[in-house]
Amino acid sequence: MKFDTKVVQAGMTPDPTTGAILPPLYQTATYVLEEVGKDKGFDYTRSANPTRQVMEEMLATIDGGEYGVAYASGMAAVDSCMKLLKAGDHVVCSDDVYGGVSRHFNEILVNYDLHFTYVDSSDPANVEHAITPTTKLIWIETPTNPLLKITDLEAVGKIAKKHGIMFGVDSTFATPVFLRPLEFGADLVMHSTTKYLSGHNQLIGGVVITNREDLFEQLKFVQKTIGAVPGPFDCWLTILGVKTLDLRMKKHAANAQAVAEYLEVHSKVSTVTFPGLPSHPMHEVAKEQMSGFSGMISFELTGGIPAGKTVMNSVQLAKLAESLGAVETMITHPATMTHVDVPQAEREARGLTDGLVRISVGIENPNDIIADLEQALDKA
Ligand SMILES: Cc1ncc(COP(=O)(O)O)c(C=O)c1O
Repeated sequence: MKFDTKVVQAGMTPDPTTGAILPPLYQTATYVLEEVGKDKGFDYTRSANPTRQVMEEMLATIDGGEYGVAYASGMAAVDSCMKLLKAGDHVVCSDDVYGGVSRHFNEILVNYDLHFTYVDSSDPANVEHAITPTTKLIWIETPTNPLLKITDLEAVGKIAKKHGIMFGVDSTFATPVFLRPLEFGADLVMHSTTKYLSGHNQLIGGVVITNREDLFEQLKFVQKTIGAVPGPFDCWLTILGVKTLDLRMKKHAANAQAVAEYLEVHSKVSTVTFPGLPSHPMHEVAKEQMSGFSGMISFELTGGIPAGKTVMNSVQLAKLAESLGAVETMITHPATMTHVDVPQAEREARGLTDGLVRISVGIENPNDIIADLEQALDKA
């Protein structure tokens, strides 16, 4: 089955009772047992729910995985991966991760005796050098949020295998349309389903995909024990979102390419970061390992912070909002929004300047998106 068929058909069987073409929404907390000790495969929705199962199977299939485990948010999905570790374990992590992820690691998990070393994983040698005898997990985000750094997953997969270390990838920005990290040796693939997978700013959710039965069993145990599960309706909405994922991602990517090329030659723009531009330092690796460059762009203006703020306050079609990956174009100021909890010195060391602007390019007509940016840049 080709990928664009899979997103529509994976896990779909007409409902045996009614023939309904869409999976029924089992909006229930519990299930009536036939007799003591005999249920129909479901006993309580924290443990399992039929609508959630359809979504988990669908998301696993499109990522080329055997198993999917869903959570109430992308952060809960990240946390469940960290629950595979024990006190004293060490993690090598990409340095430019989403600010909520580094906040979780640095302000919560360190209190549980977990240790983190951040490296620029766009050079895989940095990952290998950071490995210690207690390293149990390599956690890569690619492309990163917000600097769109790309990691060579094949190289890191080999390093993880050589050292016998678990390898997890936050693939939220790429989606399974453009990148399938399991093919490069990842043990865990994580997505915030809040973003492209559901695609319409309609919910918060997360998922972890794996091919390893041992990890699946542990993740399921964490899921049912801690209970950060998505509600059935959110799962049902995600199923609808995934059906148009392939179509949407191709439009996001084509629009982002057009917007990035427009920005790159604009006199008021000093830097544009987009993996689809030959000027991106990892463009060749992205071209090799990804089948498209997705819809995220970061840029800075020659007028610095004031000019950036003017643009963000002047756009009309694009919405100044947290989040990304929805059909609407959204513009974000990472320093005061998504990465506000990263200390300023650390942001500066990473290259995440106060003047950085991030755009999640939507699926509107690209000329309208560019015209909106044009009128905002005229004011800057
Ligand atoms: C790359 C990445 N990973 C994880 C998350 C967390 O996902 P959620 O907001 O669904 O908890 C985000 C949120 O922006 C993200 O951008």
